[in-house]
Amino acid sequence: MQIIRTISELRTSVRALRTGNERIALVPTMGALHAGHMALVHEAQKLADHVVASIFVNPMQFGPNEDLDAYPRQEATDTAMLAGEGVALVWAPDVTVMYPRGHATQIGVTGLDTMLCGAARPGHFDGVATVVAKLFNQVRPEVALFGEKDWQQLAIIRRMASDLDFDLEIIGVPTVREADGLALSSRNAYLSADDRKAAAILPQTMRGAVAAMANGANVAAILDEARAAILSAGFSSVDYLELRDGTTLAVLEDARPSARLFAAARIGTTRLIDNIAAA
Ligand code: PAJ
Repeated sequence: MQIIRTISELRTSVRALRTGNERIALVPTMGALHAGHMALVHEAQKLADHVVASIFVNPMQFGPNEDLDAYPRQEATDTAMLAGEGVALVWAPDVTVMYPRGHATQIGVTGLDTMLCGAARPGHFDGVATVVAKLFNQVRPEVALFGEKDWQQLAIIRRMASDLDFDLEIIGVPTVREADGLALSSRNAYLSADDRKAAAILPQTMRGAVAAMANGANVAAILDEARAAILSAGFSSVDYLELRDGTTLAVLEDARPSARLFAAARIGTTRLIDNIAAA
């Protein structure tokens, strides 16, 4: 498995992978890999001849008071995991390669980026859209895979790829969870033992809320009750718990096939997000 750090080497290596017209799948990551990322790699292998994974902790998507410096970095472990799964090439550029001096372009996906996580993290999705567009142009994959765990990110990337006429397919991969339902996340490593135990209340409460919606109970009342349950389990705040359309992200008053329940809540110093189908 090659580990590549410059754009010229990347172009040469990707060209070499394609000699027989083979298909390339891209799995973008920020490293600190876990079984959730590996599910994307496995799915990628089914859809293409070669898998390229990127590891880049993207400063443009972190706010001034966010965890950029503290974000877990473990490249040796990550590359060993990817090599073990048969990944052809790891694209791991330095910040100065991704954003050379004078870099001035940003992509904004207006309308999808101000609600949910965008409300608490202004500029975050501009950073995501910009780096993902750059990764698409750098690697030029036929297919790129993203987790449903970050549903708003997936919706924004789909919109951007369509709006900017990227010639590739975007695939969403279902969320990988721990046995107690907690969605795998690199940020789970920040949780204390007690908070880790309590954290599972978030997906469990969400599942209960969706079941209550399916039984026809009033959505606003269900969401109020669920917020209270999450807070009494030890979360310090619920940033949002909202029923929205999975594509447009518009707020919905009642459950329907396109609906998803979205949540973000803080426990200890960690902000956890999750979303599930609410049909
Ligand atoms: P990162 O948080 O490293 O996640 C990389 C990919 O793994 C994303 O598509 C994310 O949705 C997916 N993923 C994370 N946890 C998952 C889980 N439990 N189940 C399934 N998929 C999961 O998301 C980013 O990096 C960045 O924003 C990035 C897209 C790389 C742009 O910088």
